[in-house]
Amino acid sequence: MRVGCPKEIKNHEYRVGLTPGSVREYVAHGHEVIVETKAGAGIGADDDAYRAAGARIVSTAKEVFEKSDMIVKVKEPQPSEWTQLREGQILYTYLHLAPDPEQTKGLLNSGVSAVAYETVTDERGGLPLLAPMSEVAGRLAIQAGATSLQKANGGRGILLGGVPGVLPAKVAIIGGGVVGLHAAKMAAGLGADVSILDRSIPRLRKLDDIFNGRVHTRYSTIDALEEEVFSADLVVGAVLIPGAAAPKLVTREMLSGMKKGAVIVDVAIDQGGCFETSHATTHSEPTYEVDGVVHYCVANMPGAVPVTSAHALNNATLYYGLQLANRGLKAIAEDRHLRAGLNVHRGRVTNGPVAEALGYSAYAPEAVLNVA
Ligand SMILES: NC(=O)c1ccc[n+]([C@@H]2O[C@H](COP(=O)([O-])OP(=O)(O)OC[C@H]3O[C@@H](n4cnc5c(N)ncnc54)[C@H](O)[C@@H]3O)[C@@H](O)[C@H]2O)c1
Repeated sequence: MRVGCPKEIKNHEYRVGLTPGSVREYVAHGHEVIVETKAGAGIGADDDAYRAAGARIVSTAKEVFEKSDMIVKVKEPQPSEWTQLREGQILYTYLHLAPDPEQTKGLLNSGVSAVAYETVTDERGGLPLLAPMSEVAGRLAIQAGATSLQKANGGRGILLGGVPGVLPAKVAIIGGGVVGLHAAKMAAGLGADVSILDRSIPRLRKLDDIFNGRVHTRYSTIDALEEEVFSADLVVGAVLIPGAAAPKLVTREMLSGMKKGAVIVDVAIDQGGCFETSHATTHSEPTYEVDGVVHYCVANMPGAVPVTSAHALNNATLYYGLQLANRGLKAIAEDRHLRAGLNVHRGRVTNGPVAEALGYSAYAPEAVLNVA
């Protein structure tokens, strides 16, 4: 198959769908790979690195879209991109269609078969192509929080780990999933006093096993939440109720009970945020203050570290990408995890929640792909 990778054109997106390492894997499996010039510039991979991996470099995205059987990207296609997609082509990227009627219409009109990273599943019921970005965001949350806690950045001026003879900062993490676990690892690693709150007792058990007493776990009642939030220097919001907006667990009223100069990092902002006072910010202006509490609410945190993020993403996408390149639509037809990833196929919506959110009829991938 001919696999194509255009340069990302969404504002401030520096990741790339295929790293040179991934290109080499596709080529080793007998595929031809074409890459738009400078596609890897944001992660420090120049055209020569791609050539050395076996790719052919082309000068325009147009050529990539025109000549490829499968397009591998990072972000959802932008209007100038979805008009270049066509029937018979596979698109493999993040899509997030439910809140995006325009893009959905564009993809339906193109006839493309689009596999969304965020809905591909695994044996354990997880979302393996979403998890690496949660790992990045969880770890970054502590770096961002530590920086925001510095006095010059509006914080209360406390070092997460303290020093000998001075107590460390208190970190409360609400939600102990992938983001929460990785935030806790970083915070504990820096020497902070860390608590994780969650509503899942099996998850709290798992976290207790992982940290072996180094991190406190608490069942998230209103009482427990208030106690932790009011005494914290840094609060990380990391809850997720799949398919739903994040619950507003910390109200505006509760902010007045927090320490002045405390910091909130609301990682769940991409689902609306779990603090009533959160609104999405960008990397160029990541923080703002409400009632003396610094809010960091960047909606695409992994974008701050494109080198790490692009490699983590490629590690996760490579396996399914190779299945798609090796067997085309047959791979989707025969693998239920890839079927879960198919959102749009030849003008039909093939993902239930997307269809429901946007008022389309939902077609089962099994039906449109003629699988028994
Ligand atoms: N801002 C970003 O750049 C960025 C990047 C990656 C992920 N995220 C977001 O971070 C959030 C967390 O993602 P994740 O991968 O860790 O999800 P996850 O499903 O692995 O974990 C969510 C956890 O929240 C817990 N939870 C649910 N309701 C709760 C409640 N009321 N109180 C306490 N805990 C509760 C669940 O039990 C679960 O353990 C999601 O909204 C995700 O989209 C944001």
